[in-house]
Amino acid sequence: MHVSDARPSAVIILAAGEGTRMRSALPKVMHPIGGRSLIGHAIAAARATGTDHLTVVVRHERDRVAEHITAIDAACTIADQDEVKGTGRATECGLDALPADLSGTVLVTMGDVPLLQGETLVALAEDHASSGSAVTVITSVLPDAKSYGRIVRAADGSVERIVEFKDATDAQREIREINSGIYAFDAELLRTALTQVTTENASGEKYLTDVVGLAREAGRRVSAMPVDDLWQTEGANDRVQLADLGAELNRRTCERWMREGVTIVDPATTWIDVDVTIGRDTTIRPSTQLLGATTIGERAVVGPEVTLTDTEVGDDARIRRTEAEHAVVGAEASVGPFSYLRAGTVVGRGGKVGGFVETKNATIGEGAKVPHLTYCGDAQIGDGANIGAGTIFANYDGVAKHRTTIGRHSFVGSNSVLVAPVDIADGAYVAAGSAVTEDVAPGQMAVARGRQSNHDGWVATRRAGTPTDAAAQAAGTTTQED
Ligand code: UD1
Ligand code: CA
Repeated sequence: MHVSDARPSAVIILAAGEGTRMRSALPKVMHPIGGRSLIGHAIAAARATGTDHLTVVVRHERDRVAEHITAIDAACTIADQDEVKGTGRATECGLDALPADLSGTVLVTMGDVPLLQGETLVALAEDHASSGSAVTVITSVLPDAKSYGRIVRAADGSVERIVEFKDATDAQREIREINSGIYAFDAELLRTALTQVTTENASGEKYLTDVVGLAREAGRRVSAMPVDDLWQTEGANDRVQLADLGAELNRRTCERWMREGVTIVDPATTWIDVDVTIGRDTTIRPSTQLLGATTIGERAVVGPEVTLTDTEVGDDARIRRTEAEHAVVGAEASVGPFSYLRAGTVVGRGGKVGGFVETKNATIGEGAKVPHLTYCGDAQIGDGANIGAGTIFANYDGVAKHRTTIGRHSFVGSNSVLVAPVDIADGAYVAAGSAVTEDVAPGQMAVARGRQSNHDGWVATRRAGTPTDAAAQAAGTTTQED
């Protein structure tokens, strides 16, 4: 069967709940794992079905959650749940936001089940379409079914109803097959059944699960689609579960990249966000975090102890013990150890940023080197230039930031201060220890420091009798002070 045959007409994501167990000012569905919020994961899975209508039902922190959803996926419809509680009511509110004559399959899923895969939703829609059922529910069999809703099957093995833990008899509580809360429904059946669902239960809520029993009473067929991968239906209700799910997601992401040809020396200490991409034969060394939209080329070596956020790394580059954000590291470039690349840093092909160097808004040309102990902000450094140890790009005058440019193959001596705005041309030199405030022309050598003067006999006069004086005398000192 082609995916398009079973494509759901709509997907409704339930995300109106408060998530009190997170004990957080941040709405539960906005907590991130793997560089994406819980609701972001749910939206990504829903989008994989190719549905035309995606609706998220919200209520708690409505505006904040709605804004977050729209930022992720502007085509997503936001549906507001009213004061009637329960998953059934939430689904009804979701349906109300969809075209009134919508037919076909409607998938319902939840905003806090981040490891659910798009393929699983696609399989659910296909299973549902091919069985001709009115309802298909994803179930799993758990060693400890906790407070999940229980799947009650008839003698012939068909699904008869779902009973919530609070409403279950002792015998029903023994059932280990549970309701994941993820379903496929026939749109008309769902719409009709929800009008019949009441709030007469232990929670006083309108349960979506009651639609299953109502479908059976209407003589319609209900199926279960068991999933073996239990992580996919696991919800994040508190921060302990959030961490467990985050670790499992990361384990899966690392495994995926290793299968794609990336060496990950220590997956246990490597954290890779879901949107990161890594080229073949790249090696990720221990304690490395690749975050956000970071991309890494082929044959690069990254780590140990590197954190890259939204950073692009070229082929064959080498990065050690470095923090970088919104930076670009060119092919064959070398960064670290102990470098800090801030936003707007671009290191050209074969360039070098070395130990204890901080860069910001700085373009470092091809093969150019900033090897040691430098602050380099708001700068343009030409190809092949060399910046001596301890150079400071003084870019801030207390009011505004200014730029420094350094030309191709120019050389800045150690411990210089380049007071921006200043322009050092192609092929120019700056003497070590200079405080440069004037532009330097091509071919010039700038010296901007006090000239050295040596004072004869100073130690003998001012430090007589000290070990320094004795050492000077033994070495043949000058005795007469200038
Ligand atoms: C629900 C199911 C239960 C299932 C479990 C799986 C019902 C009645 N029970 O229970 O059978 O085993 O999920 O995790 O459906 N929500 C709303 N509006 C509401 C209530 C909930 O949008 O008024 C959303 C929540 O934000 C959440 C989802 O629905 O994303 C599930 O709600 P929750 O209260 O956690 O349901 P459970 O009690 O876990
Ligand atoms: Ca839940």
